[in-house]
Amino acid sequence: MIATGSVCAAANRPFRPARGTIITQYDTNILKIAIMSKKRIVVLTGAGVSAESGIKTFRDSGGLWEEYDIMEVATPEAWERNRDLVIDFYNQRRKQLYEVEPNDAHYALVELEKDYDVHIITQNVDDLHERAGSSHVMHLHGELKKVRSSVDENLVYDLEGWELKPGDTCELGSQLRPHIVWFGEPVHMIPAAADLSNSADIFVIIGTSLNVYPAASLVSYVRPGVPVYLIDPGEVNAAHIQGVRVIREKAGSGTRRLVEELRK
Ligand code: APR
Repeated sequence: MIATGSVCAAANRPFRPARGTIITQYDTNILKIAIMSKKRIVVLTGAGVSAESGIKTFRDSGGLWEEYDIMEVATPEAWERNRDLVIDFYNQRRKQLYEVEPNDAHYALVELEKDYDVHIITQNVDDLHERAGSSHVMHLHGELKKVRSSVDENLVYDLEGWELKPGDTCELGSQLRPHIVWFGEPVHMIPAAADLSNSADIFVIIGTSLNVYPAASLVSYVRPGVPVYLIDPGEVNAAHIQGVRVIREKAGSGTRRLVEELRK
């Protein structure tokens, strides 16, 4: 017995069963069909979607990689060479994450779920999509609020607060490290992300320079003929994306505009 709501086909309005009403398999099937019949939108996001929340992108002028050397803070070699520097780099980013909020682009994608089956594949390690309320978020490059064992990558933990300290260890006694995919490390989520991209009825790209692979290759898994939209105020090399519609705006206004269009 499942206590849930279902759709009354005739009236096309939500049906609230009286407390203790038995929901039959038939109702559940109706519900499943209703969900399955929603078109699937897959959204690939990058740092640009969080820029209006105050989080720096990586490669724009004034971006993070102008301030920090990738080789010093975002590679396994950097971790071997100077753990404290790497720990501190991610601590500062994590501290900032507790000070910022989702922006209009994040919320617009949540609204889209009213009419579409929306799945987000993000390169971002922030949790702003989840905090805005998105139901399906896949992180390709890890998550800032998680840490993991430095000897067994399957031992992943939620970090309380923003500060990871040297000497904080996993259950095997190894130093905990940020749960981030560093340059040169495998992106384990790519096969699942490729399948998801291939299942899209509409594919949307927001705020990524498409410079980093394999994430940038996901658009090549989109089925021919599927509409592809790209939202970015800057120049993004999208010439290889057949029939892409470029919305040359910031994520907030551009996503809002696209959502209004798609919800018409
Ligand atoms: N709205 C939308 N897009 C924006 C905005 C904005 N307000 N501001 C900047 N952008 C765009 C830029 O024009 C650029 O195309 O966001 C993109 C940011 O690109 P990058 O800084 O390269 O970030 P991203 O593509 O997410 O980087 C990919 O690289 O550094 C690694 O692992 C890190 O996940 C990251 C990956």
